[in-house]
Amino acid sequence: MLDTFIFVFLPYTALALLIGVTPYRYLTNRLTWTTYSTQFLERDTLYWGITSWHHGIILILLAHLAGIVWPQGMQRLLGNQQTLVVLESIGLGLGLLALFGCLVLLLRRVNSGMLGRVTFAADWVLLYLLIFQAASGIYVAIFMRWGSVWYLHTAVPYLHSLLLFRPQIEYVADFPLVFKLHAALAFLIVALLPFTKLVHLLFLPCRFLADPPILYRWLGKGGVGRD
Ligand code: HEM
Repeated sequence: MLDTFIFVFLPYTALALLIGVTPYRYLTNRLTWTTYSTQFLERDTLYWGITSWHHGIILILLAHLAGIVWPQGMQRLLGNQQTLVVLESIGLGLGLLALFGCLVLLLRRVNSGMLGRVTFAADWVLLYLLIFQAASGIYVAIFMRWGSVWYLHTAVPYLHSLLLFRPQIEYVADFPLVFKLHAALAFLIVALLPFTKLVHLLFLPCRFLADPPILYRWLGKGGVGRD
């Protein structure tokens, strides 16, 4: 029952919300399709949090994706023991970087009264979910070795079966609870994506990283701008 909920109900609900709500939000209120930058309220801590988070999590998600779209290639790559150890170590480093970044982003909002006033329930929920997601991934990577290999023979065929609308949960049903939690949180994050500022993920994350952050300028008395 719990397995069906996590591995069938949650992913398809998340997909339906993503496909249904995202275009609706885009078409009905284009101005909310943003990250609601708070850079003009605080920028120093933001830099450390956001840089660590994005550089860590984007590469980790690309690694997750590589297994789904290119399983044979990944299997060949990870078949070499040295490559496996190097890639798993890099993955762990990136996971820790992402977790560090997300914790900094959370503490930044906790410690600033001004930021607290522009932080809504959805922002708190999202930050905590992302922290739990990164932490549970790191736990799996450390205590269920070698995740990058068994992922290809269990989670990947399960995810393929989901995409074909013939879910085969037997691939993942026997996993420990922490893995199920990691998968459930992932689906929950996708489900919340269209309702939160995470929607910015859909407009080219690379451009988002490369662009200079929005710079707000206060207008002085003479109308001369300063940062
Ligand atoms: C929102 C989506 C997701 C995020 C943000 C995420 C994040 C992470 C992070 C940060 C790690 C730690 C990486 C490391 O330290 O090496 C990780 C590992 C892992 N994740 Fe995810 N994950 C997501 C979705 C999923 C899904 C849907 C599955 C499978 C159903 C999955 C399976 C795994 C596995 C097996 C590992 C261990 C990899 C290893 O041992 O190297 N993840 N994830």
